[in-house]
Amino acid sequence: MALKWIKILTLLSIGATAVIVSDEASKGKCADFNNTIWIEYKQGTKVQVQYLLLTRKNADCASLFTQECLNHTQQHTAYFNSTLNTIVIIHGYRAIGSKPSWVSGLAQAFLQKEDVNVLVVDWIYGASFAYNLVVKNYKEVSVQISVLINQLTTYGSTLESFHFIGVSLGAHVAGFVGTLFEGKLGRITGLDPAGPMFKNADPFDRLDPSDAMFVEAIHTDSDYFGISIPVGHVDFFLNGGMDQTGCARSKFASMYGYVICDHMRALHVYMSALNGSCALTGFPCSNYEKFLAGQCISCDETFNGTCPQMGLLKNSGITVSPLPKHEKVFLLTTSEAPFCAHHILIELKVSRLEKSAEVQVTLISMSGAETEQKLRLQTDEMIHKKVIGHPECLCKIDSIQLKNTGARFYRQGNIHFEYICISEIPKMRRSSLCVENINIGRGAPWSHDFIQVC
Ligand SMILES: *[C@@H]1O[C@H](CO)[C@@H](O)[C@H](O)[C@H]1NC(C)=O
Ligand SMILES: *[C@@H]1O[C@H](CO)[C@@H](O)[C@H](O)[C@H]1NC(C)=O
Ligand SMILES: *[C@@H]1O[C@H](CO)[C@@H](O)[C@H](O)[C@H]1NC(C)=O
Ligand SMILES: *[C@@H]1O[C@H](CO)[C@@H](O)[C@H](O)[C@H]1NC(C)=O
Ligand SMILES: *[C@@H]1O[C@H](CO)[C@@H](O)[C@H](O)[C@H]1NC(C)=O
Repeated sequence: MALKWIKILTLLSIGATAVIVSDEASKGKCADFNNTIWIEYKQGTKVQVQYLLLTRKNADCASLFTQECLNHTQQHTAYFNSTLNTIVIIHGYRAIGSKPSWVSGLAQAFLQKEDVNVLVVDWIYGASFAYNLVVKNYKEVSVQISVLINQLTTYGSTLESFHFIGVSLGAHVAGFVGTLFEGKLGRITGLDPAGPMFKNADPFDRLDPSDAMFVEAIHTDSDYFGISIPVGHVDFFLNGGMDQTGCARSKFASMYGYVICDHMRALHVYMSALNGSCALTGFPCSNYEKFLAGQCISCDETFNGTCPQMGLLKNSGITVSPLPKHEKVFLLTTSEAPFCAHHILIELKVSRLEKSAEVQVTLISMSGAETEQKLRLQTDEMIHKKVIGHPECLCKIDSIQLKNTGARFYRQGNIHFEYICISEIPKMRRSSLCVENINIGRGAPWSHDFIQVC
């Protein structure tokens, strides 16, 4: 444990310094995060919290939001409008006490979408250096935030109008604010809620569905920095929730790729979801393997036909009541913004096999987008199913290829398929594209072009 954190501290201190410098250069008299330095930390840093306010009237110049501001004596108070919803953004652990670089992007994404107040919580002074000490601090931060929220309610905001966005450890800070308000806050979104020291914690001490009227979480690194258990009414597990596409696994990859790419992916995908250029919807399933095996292709039973969608729809688009709890939903994403993948179900029936075999299926769109998937075919199963993520919809797929990739390794001969079908889930108007009676010989790829009408 200790060694792991030392490694991370060392790695992060390289990249983050550059961020501080470039940020400071571009700021005029706008309020900004305060950085903590190691000296201050050693002197016994107290938990200090400050708030930055961004609205459509000051979208690119944050003002410091203090309790005096509420008194309407200072000019920038005018920016806070208590009849609007308030987004509260809470960052997580900051290894070397630097400002999180993503804050303004996230705030902008909200402001473009809706006329809201965005309050950014800066608790860098409590969030830096030793992770275990930071975890000790987080409830004190929650208490301070709750004092502010309480005051805002006396100025006309309702508890329901608050939507907390907690990144990593910030998700549990938000959760404890929710506990203090007995679950009456409107919404909490946990972006890869922190796992270390929380997974086995009592629900009182971490984010859980009782913390707000609606709690959702997005999981992208649940085998390392993120939490692996569901903590919301609905929990989106992206690509299984552990390893993200495009985040390099190799230790020779960039520092970012190696250390926090998976963990921060939740934030980047959420920003895309706010952007709203395409839908990111999840399928309820007990685990990822079943989802990939095509056993969870509909939202009918759990959600009465409407799959939960990431973004700002009320209750993520869930219409059933009461809301489910700890409902795991799975989705695939692409490796870059806007991250949306169409879920294509491949179904094939193979004629009797002498021994297990392997084929590669490739889907190709008119635009040239290609998705490949290897399938292991076992002798005791005739029908095989697989869900894959393709950047474009079924109606843009204009060709399918099959290759007998096991010919060499498994010494397999020709394979005969009774049919292969592809369809998009959840089932759309255009149901499926099928080809029947296919022979794939060794070293002879097969392909078929679909005539599409979209
Ligand atoms: C942050 O910096 C500003 C100006 O440098 C200062 O007035 C404020 O007290 C600092 N806030 C905290 C929480 O230390
Ligand atoms: C607002 O500020 C004035 C003057 O500083 C003070 O007398 C008053 O009590 C404040 N009101 C609230 C609600 O804090
Ligand atoms: C606050 O927001 C409401 C609703 O959008 C709007 O009608 C009102 O004019 C706003 N108040 C101020 C001071 O901007
Ligand atoms: C948001 O959408 C715009 C175009 O609509 C795109 O250029 C931008 O990359 C998107 N941002 C994210 C974070 O997806
Ligand atoms: C399910 O949806 C249908 C139509 O969309 C609606 O009539 C019905 O009341 C819903 N059932 C539940 C339990 O919400």
